[in-house]
Amino acid sequence: MRIDIITIFPEYFGPLGVSLIGKAAARGDIEFRVHDLRQWAHDIHRTVDDAPFGGGPGMVMKAQVWAEALEDVAPPVPGRPVVPGPRLIVPTPSGVPFTQARAASYTRCPQLIFACGRYEGIDARFIDEARSRMPVDEVSIGDYVLAGGEAAVLVMVEAIGRLLPGVLGNERSARDDSFGGAAAGGEAASAADTASAGDGDAGSGPLSGSGPLSGSGPLSGSGPLSGSGPLSGSGPPAGAGTLAGGAADADASMAGLLEGPVYTRPRVWRGREVPDVLLSGDHAAIARWRRDAALLRTAANRPDLIWRAAADPGALSGRDWQVLSAMGLSGLIRPDPAR
Ligand code: 6GU
Repeated sequence: MRIDIITIFPEYFGPLGVSLIGKAAARGDIEFRVHDLRQWAHDIHRTVDDAPFGGGPGMVMKAQVWAEALEDVAPPVPGRPVVPGPRLIVPTPSGVPFTQARAASYTRCPQLIFACGRYEGIDARFIDEARSRMPVDEVSIGDYVLAGGEAAVLVMVEAIGRLLPGVLGNERSARDDSFGGAAAGGEAASAADTASAGDGDAGSGPLSGSGPLSGSGPLSGSGPLSGSGPLSGSGPPAGAGTLAGGAADADASMAGLLEGPVYTRPRVWRGREVPDVLLSGDHAAIARWRRDAALLRTAANRPDLIWRAAADPGALSGRDWQVLSAMGLSGLIRPDPAR
């Protein structure tokens, strides 16, 4: 994959030479080209911005400078658009949410071009014109405002890069991550291959919506794995295997759930023990415990994801519902109690 980054701060992207992504670049699995936007400016001051029409604070980046940059980085090809061809990604807090599903869909693009805006953004006519040539996504990494797109691009490049074949090394770990099921899922898969831009493609995956900003849901105060929940005992969680599909359904996709806690040696550290089940060698019980832990952590930290799973027939098993009620979760409507 080739990744072009256009920015007024090329030095911001030094970290792309480090760690997993740096190694992928050294191997040639990702080719980074970082461009200084000012090389396309015309005056001796290399101006890239101007005052906004209509007034207001701040400055707006000029369409002409950006257009010339894009024409050099992805020269227009006569005739029909190349599919799959380059895709322009414009980081902005007013964009569609960047999600794991969107990251996965971008791995299928041969060339991604990131246009880092600063100040109050880029003249909208540049983005309109770019859309006539290639798919364009305005993308946000979260509900907060950064001073510019550069940090957001580092975030997106890392999320995309680690999903590329061969980059992670252990393919399983991407799949089992929090949100990993979305990466493996197909709903965003072909979207980025099309030339049509931004038409509800990768944004329609199950995790694509931005969650509510409230951190104070009904579950947020309770320690997820402490006290007398189903995970607190040393044996298997109460009721494990007693329902149809009890232990076995822990192998079901963890899509849409957060990953639970992890442990390594020593078994006892400062008096704190690793849960016995993880030492038991009983793979079904371990999988069930991990799913319970994922449910509890998700309910505590991201209740919006639990509501979403609850509304998806087939996402939660009877055993899952039992775990959720054991932690005092109320107010959920179980779609099909017969399941
Ligand atoms: Cl992608 N850019 C900027 N400037 N601010 C952001 C953002 C992106 N995502 C959230 N806030």
